[in-house]
Amino acid sequence: MSPAKPETRKGCVRAPHFDILWLPRAAIKSVEGDPSDCVVVVGVSRPKMALTVLTIMLLSLFLTFHLIYDSALYSLHAKNVEHPRPPILLLSRRLYPSAASRLPQAIIMGVRKCGTRALLEMLYLHPMIQKAAGEVHFFDRDDNYYKGLEWYRMQMPRSYPGQITIEKSPSYFVTPEVPERIRAMNASVKLLLIVREPVTRAISDYTQLRANAATASPSMSTSPTKSFEQLALFSNGSINEAYRPLAISLYHNYMHRWLEVFPREQILIVNGDLLIEDPVSQLQKIERFLGLEPRISTENFYFNETKGFYCLRNETSDRCLRETKGRKHPRVDALVVSRLRKYYGEHNQRFYELVGEDLGWPEE
Ligand SMILES: *[C@@H]1O[C@H](CO)[C@@H](O)[C@H](O)[C@H]1NC(C)=O
Ligand SMILES: *[C@@H]1O[C@H](CO)[C@@H](O)[C@H](O)[C@H]1NC(C)=O
Ligand SMILES: *[C@@H]1O[C@H](CO)[C@@H](O)[C@H](O)[C@H]1NC(C)=O
Ligand SMILES: *[C@@H]1O[C@H](CO)[C@@H](O)[C@H](O)[C@H]1NC(C)=O
Repeated sequence: MSPAKPETRKGCVRAPHFDILWLPRAAIKSVEGDPSDCVVVVGVSRPKMALTVLTIMLLSLFLTFHLIYDSALYSLHAKNVEHPRPPILLLSRRLYPSAASRLPQAIIMGVRKCGTRALLEMLYLHPMIQKAAGEVHFFDRDDNYYKGLEWYRMQMPRSYPGQITIEKSPSYFVTPEVPERIRAMNASVKLLLIVREPVTRAISDYTQLRANAATASPSMSTSPTKSFEQLALFSNGSINEAYRPLAISLYHNYMHRWLEVFPREQILIVNGDLLIEDPVSQLQKIERFLGLEPRISTENFYFNETKGFYCLRNETSDRCLRETKGRKHPRVDALVVSRLRKYYGEHNQRFYELVGEDLGWPEE
């Protein structure tokens, strides 16, 4: 440390905004008890410039801390320690391109009216799951499919590496082109098929269609709507196999197409009736299938006596599924139910054989 050299200042053509001078200790009498022999004196020659510089310094300090804060949050996400959902923070979109929309690694492919929405919402309790909003209908609707995979990807929620993106579109199950189209996207994608007892599903389907018709034309709602029995059976008593709600419950008719394209172990059959009665055991099975660590437990559910089914609970909120999802089914003639169950008996056996699992549905 040498004393200040006056020639340094003089040699400078433009006056610097800051002058740093090393003065011998003796030059400043007021500083006492300091063992060093030099002190720094900072002089400001242009207050406006100094203010600008100070502002810039403060700004960059703020940005640095923001960056540190953001990346700390991000590493928490990555380790799945705390909040795994993307942080809604200023700049995080630009700073972390790793949070991005990704093609789904798992798809709930059906079946309609078997609890696909409930299944997706329950899976979303897991911090490593991201769900697409609504039903994407990419593989089953040609107008969407021809928009291409990039369009499909853009419909997906933002996720972090390691998280699993899931979408559900129940009509995938019954649409012939879909299995091959999904395979073309990702041959190792994991597929979830949720099924219910076929007659229960058919009645639920009928209930939904009737409700949709009433909403579509409220003026018509006074006109008598056909009962389930009238639609399911012809007047001569034989079963109307072509009636859509009955046809969709013939699961084996659609399942075989999927098994021609995907190995059996890539498809998980979820029992929709059990998902209602005992959601946790079904969800634990799915966590294993998706290779996720077990995170969903009985703590995530509570039974609502009024509704008669389980509601969902996460760290921040309680939630029951939409009212329409628990729509009351019409009372269907027990004889008709029994006839239909007998009819499905043989079809159910074919489904069990295809998937190598007996779901134990009643046959009368
Ligand atoms: C395909 O799906 C598998 C299984 O979910 C996943 O691990 C893999 O990352 C996916 N590949 C692409 C390219 O998305
Ligand atoms: C019952 O009626 C339907 C439609 O009218 C017909 O297709 C079917 O063959 C009839 N079944 C019997 C057993 O007559
Ligand atoms: C249970 O369901 C009823 C009927 O939908 C609702 O009014 C009530 O708030 C629910 N209770 C809880 C604790 O979720
Ligand atoms: C909890 O559930 C609510 C409602 O679905 C959702 O908005 C919220 O993001 C969830 N919280 C966490 C931490 O996942």
